[in-house]
Amino acid sequence: MTDAQTLNAASYGPEWAAIWDREFGTRPDTHDAVHTLAELAAGRAVLEFGIGTGRLALPLVEKGLTVRGVDNSPWMLEQLKAKPQADGIDVVEGDFATATVDGEYGLVFISSHALFALTSQDEQVRCFENAAAHLVRGGVFAIEVMAPQSGVLDNGRCWTTKVDADSLTMFVSTADHVSQQMRMCHFTLNWDGTVRLRPAASRYAWPAELDLMARIAGMRLRDRWGAWDQRPFTAQSTAHVSVYERT
Ligand SMILES: C[S@@+](CC[C@H](N)C(=O)[O-])C[C@H]1O[C@@H](n2cnc3c(N)ncnc32)[C@H](O)[C@@H]1O
Repeated sequence: MTDAQTLNAASYGPEWAAIWDREFGTRPDTHDAVHTLAELAAGRAVLEFGIGTGRLALPLVEKGLTVRGVDNSPWMLEQLKAKPQADGIDVVEGDFATATVDGEYGLVFISSHALFALTSQDEQVRCFENAAAHLVRGGVFAIEVMAPQSGVLDNGRCWTTKVDADSLTMFVSTADHVSQQMRMCHFTLNWDGTVRLRPAASRYAWPAELDLMARIAGMRLRDRWGAWDQRPFTAQSTAHVSVYERT
């Protein structure tokens, strides 16, 4: 394992898994994401790469879709399996760049910038190839990742991501513009004086590079939006949702 991979393996360890739902489970765009994903699935089976605790998978099951998932964190999967509604979801514990899941899918998706947790270009290409290998012809691979032009690459940039009665959570990052590697840390300052650090690594890529990865894997860009609500993608967009169709 490289240093970056070791860092990421720790990112979704027991401590992170324990707070994921509380801190990220209620992202305001969840409803739009579920609506758009259901539309893309069009009744066909769905495979989520990086299913985590089921924030998106569970509402998709509620909509009557067959959903399976891949995740390499046994701790995140444990949180998912503890939920009664998760009975209907088959999961494979493994790396979404390489794991094989039985069945053929009309939609494979990866949300919340998780594609960039693969810290080399080769691994990211393998992930596109793995998505394509699970799709029926005409099926789609949807990805949600940050847009590098959004200012996130400014070294030392710090964002406050959450403030509540108990704590303040901030996110800091540093980027190497040559290797496209980022180091990030979420840190939570609890008002009781304790601090919790959650470091992670990623490799960012511009939309055009991702489009070429898709072509290598036998897919073509079908849509690109600035968010799950399907707003237009512009130079000001902080993220994009890109949809690739298997040709
Ligand atoms: C940002 S979380 C998103 C979880 C869920 N999709 C959501 O939106 O709430 C990313 C998930 O991807 C998983 N993950 C990260 N890298 C992975 C990899 N290489 N293979 C499989 N799962 C991975 C993590 O364990 C984590 O559960």
